[in-house]
Amino acid sequence: MERRTPSAAALRGGFPKLVVWALLAILATLAGCERTDAVQRGFRGTGMLNVYDAKALAAAQPIHAIPDPEPVDPPDPEAPSVDEAFKNIQVLRDLTVLEISRLMQAMSTWVAPEEGCDFCHNPRNLASDEKYAKVVARKMLLMTREINTRWKSHVGDTGVTCWTCHRGQAVPSGDWFSNPAAPGMNNLIGNRNFQNEPGIKSNGNTSLPNDALSVFLERDDNIRVQGESVLRTSQGPSIKQAEWTYSLMMYMSNSLGVNCTYCHNTRALAPWDQSSPPRVTAWHGIRMVRSLNVDHLEAVGPLLPPIRWSATGDFPKVGCDTCHKGAFKPMNGVSMLPDYPELAGVMVRAPAAAASAAN
Ligand code: HEC
Ligand code: HEC
Ligand code: HEC
Ligand code: HEC
Repeated sequence: MERRTPSAAALRGGFPKLVVWALLAILATLAGCERTDAVQRGFRGTGMLNVYDAKALAAAQPIHAIPDPEPVDPPDPEAPSVDEAFKNIQVLRDLTVLEISRLMQAMSTWVAPEEGCDFCHNPRNLASDEKYAKVVARKMLLMTREINTRWKSHVGDTGVTCWTCHRGQAVPSGDWFSNPAAPGMNNLIGNRNFQNEPGIKSNGNTSLPNDALSVFLERDDNIRVQGESVLRTSQGPSIKQAEWTYSLMMYMSNSLGVNCTYCHNTRALAPWDQSSPPRVTAWHGIRMVRSLNVDHLEAVGPLLPPIRWSATGDFPKVGCDTCHKGAFKPMNGVSMLPDYPELAGVMVRAPAAAASAAN
């Protein structure tokens, strides 16, 4: 007599349906997972793969777009000189009246598209410096020219404009403050030293100390994990320094939308001869950001209305994310400077053009 086991009976009965539903449920869950692609960036076998999520990259494209360049006015020999036309030009003295007017249009699009000229100007007196935004914008003009001349080691000839950071907003995304809210600081359970505050994005959502940007992108502490000799000869990098370093590295990777292998061969993180060329660009970038914060943003801070300060009274600062916004080259590497050569540095003209500009 054929004997049927209960399990065999179950297989023909309700059980298979259960299995089908369970499989469907698993598939549905997996469908929500990221599907990643990988590109090989180093020699075969070195594991230097960059993993990316094509869908997330495509979704992020709008932030990398660039507005159409302002039309260029044909040179007008009748146009008045800057000193005849304007009363209070302190930085853009190398431009003609037409060039200044065109740049003003562009600056409105880049920084304050809704408010327009009035964001920086009293419309009844354009020469007046009564609005903080105009005073800040003048400092920003100097900073932008300095980035494009002094920091070619980082920005190359691609350079930056106001748009690189601002993207149509007065307060650019990716600015940051020292002393991010650290509820555990110096209370009864002790000083947490900015650690164990998970959920902070710049920190890769880890429990590492979250003030690495103040340490490395404003102050110039050494970004080190490894000692320089096999045997300990002097005080090497501290555990704190190592933790800060990893925190900064996660911030940099997030800001550029890359993995550690974009810059390092992760079999040995420290040696430069085993790293990729972008690591050198990044090294200069770190120095550039420090100098922007110390030489420029610290002077801008007190000019801003207190609503722009942090809860602890700190001023906004520039980081990698302020320009890069998730791309390994800001705006995917497109340069706006050919359309705005006046931001590449003080304009140098052929003698004839210079004479007509001075007229
Ligand atoms: C983001 C701030 C900002 C916006 C927006 C802006 N300007 Fe300006 N504007 C400035 C700054 C800064 C100066 C002074 C530049 C210098 O000192 O070299 C200036 C100077 C001027 C001057 C010269 C005034 C004088 O007599 O000295 C005129 C005219 C002017 N802007 C017109 C405009 C117009 C028109 C618009 C709108 C299309 C506009 N600006 C939008 C910041 C701005
Ligand atoms: C490297 C990035 C960077 C570049 C390039 C840059 N800015 Fe800024 N800008 C900042 C940061 C950061 C702040 C401070 C944010 C804040 O005000 O809270 C700021 C603030 C400002 C403000 C004050 C906004 C406010 O209401 O608080 C103005 C106006 C401004 N920038 C104009 C300009 C102009 C015009 C240019 C181009 C000539 C320019 N910026 C280029 C980063 C940049
Ligand atoms: C965009 C390039 C870039 C990316 C991405 C990057 N790093 Fe770095 N890393 C650097 C640079 C530049 C330095 C050296 C900084 C300095 O000396 O000022 C460095 C230094 C380090 C050091 C210190 C080595 C030593 O000398 O002790 C470690 C460890 C490190 N990185 C780990 C990582 C890890 C882990 C990741 C991924 C989470 C990562 N890095 C992502 C550029 C990068
Ligand atoms: C003022 C804007 C700005 C800031 C701030 C900035 N970068 Fe850049 N970065 C650029 C520009 C522009 C380029 C493109 C240069 C080129 O085309 O040669 C670039 C290129 C790079 C590259 C080279 C990418 C490649 O594939 O060649 C790396 C790496 C990089 N940046 C890392 C960083 C890091 C790390 C920081 C923060 C410490 C940072 N950048 C801050 C503007 C900026």
